[in-house]
Amino acid sequence: MSDIQKQRAGEAAALRVEAGMIVGLGTGSTAAWFVKALAARNLSNLRCVPTSEATADLARSLGLPLTTLEDVSRIDLTVDGADEVGPGLALIKGGGAALLREKLVWEASDRCLVIADAAKVVTTLGAFPLPIEVVAFGHKTTGNRIADVLSDHDISQPARLRQADRGIVRTDGGNVIYDARCGAIHDPARLADDLKLITGVVEHGLFLDLADEAIIGTDSGVETLTP
Ligand code: 5RP
Repeated sequence: MSDIQKQRAGEAAALRVEAGMIVGLGTGSTAAWFVKALAARNLSNLRCVPTSEATADLARSLGLPLTTLEDVSRIDLTVDGADEVGPGLALIKGGGAALLREKLVWEASDRCLVIADAAKVVTTLGAFPLPIEVVAFGHKTTGNRIADVLSDHDISQPARLRQADRGIVRTDGGNVIYDARCGAIHDPARLADDLKLITGVVEHGLFLDLADEAIIGTDSGVETLTP
């Protein structure tokens, strides 16, 4: 993890925003660099849709005008971080527990730009534990059904309920997160479909066919990737 690489990616992404745009604001430390760089540009008539309460707080503190997904029909450009950037710009997201709002915002966007430090680029997804957002009611039962699906995908480790110092992590929507230590995800599309079929699973962190471009911060500047 390199903070300067994240900063470079965030600042380069901010240059892609034009006055008057409706912009989706991602969540996480890389997205925070983007939010700061965007605010510094002082563009006129921006409207920003945050993907988490944390990002909303940051954007508000910097004077960026906020709106909601209920108030806009489409978003011009969303810029967000990722936990892994795989071949074809298939992503794992949700390390910051914002995957549901992130995916709703991404899917409402005409263009999605992922920003990351170079260590996030992988040849196979799955070393980073895959976040799966689950309704809190009966989550242990849902966790067992997730384990069955993972086992069908040759993933023997059961997913782990995400905990923090203050207990079970809750998302902004009040759900819980199971993190699946997949090791390697050989068929991300099939795993994505199978997880979505489980009652109680709200969303998973596989973002497939959603990113239009990646800006990767490096030690010398930035590199762009396309699917
Ligand atoms: C939050 C996310 C983040 O974009 C992802 O976890 C990357 O975070 P960071 O930029 O701090 O490494 O998906 O849900």
